Amino acid sequence: MSDVVPLRFVPGLGIDALDQTHLPHDVRYVRLATVDAVCEAIGSLRVRGAPLLGLVGAAGLAVAAEREGTKDSVLAAAAERLASARPTAVDLRARTEQALTIALAEPPAHRVERLWAFADQLLASRIAEDRQIGELGAALLPSGTCVLTHCNTGALATGGIGTALGVIRVAWEQGRLAHCYATETRPLLQGARLTAWELAQLEIPSSLLPDTAAASLIASGRVGAILTGADRIAANGDTANKVGTYGLAAVAARHGVPFYIAAPTSTIDRDCPSGAGIPIEFRADAEVGGFGRERWSPGGLGAYNPAFDVTPAELIAAIVTERGVARPPFGQSVAAFFAEQTTGQSGYTGLHSEARDRA
Ligand code: MRU
Repeated sequence: MSDVVPLRFVPGLGIDALDQTHLPHDVRYVRLATVDAVCEAIGSLRVRGAPLLGLVGAAGLAVAAEREGTKDSVLAAAAERLASARPTAVDLRARTEQALTIALAEPPAHRVERLWAFADQLLASRIAEDRQIGELGAALLPSGTCVLTHCNTGALATGGIGTALGVIRVAWEQGRLAHCYATETRPLLQGARLTAWELAQLEIPSSLLPDTAAASLIASGRVGAILTGADRIAANGDTANKVGTYGLAAVAARHGVPFYIAAPTSTIDRDCPSGAGIPIEFRADAEVGGFGRERWSPGGLGAYNPAFDVTPAELIAAIVTERGVARPPFGQSVAAFFAEQTTGQSGYTGLHSEARDRA
């Protein structure tokens, strides 16, 4: 297949983004040439998915430097607009603020160039880290596994091969995967529109299901593992992801099916002790009871429309990152990833080995 390219950085002109609101019918790129355009694209989900939002935030600051100037105060204000365009995915704020710190360390004349170089560097890391996540995650799946996934976690959401969908892709390449079930992911249909599009291009045998059919599918015994991505993982392992993820994890626990999160370590928010501290985005009422311009619900009602929910750590069998596979208790196993970063010593070699042993 030809790999999906969700973003192209065009220094001097802006960011060319695959407009995900038109998929799967129309593969259309939109040029994001101003900070306002970047923020609008984030808010309207033209670009979306936690790791991709980190890339967009960093590149968005390069756009700001080109369009609005490179003074400290100008860049700081632009960074705040970008970082607050959506609240839940930690990568957006963290990568934007990282880009700001890097830019401010340079003389103003070098800042534009440095910001684009940082965006390129982040993209390269994403590609490498997704592949690592894919390999480590696939090793957890016994041969012949049928998996269930939710929302979209593929190339469209990261810029690499994806996180949960990257695992599914590698498992398919390795001959381990028998079938992929993908939820539609109401109300914005990231599963039906985006994951289905990516699965079709990858030629992975797949079925789409209404979100409401997931519980009975899991109960039927057809699913050997559930894999999703994450928007923010608290220090204790509680994980925010697309609304509906918690329900899948709860039903998986009821039926003894392992529930895995696949996400880069950049999605772990060590400043957030538990899921209670994760900000959850609530979106417009109009997204419920219709899609786009089409309405199938009569007016007169409000809507309850959280974009994400938090899965408690005790329902998660493992968190697959580029640095290894963390197992409960996540407070310790997740902290070990960062201990290695600080000390240069491996706090989790055994976790890598565990994944390799199962390969
Ligand atoms: O609202 P979205 O489409 O940005 O939500 C995306 C998700 O919930 C993904 O599962 C998550 O960001 C992980 S992407 C690898």
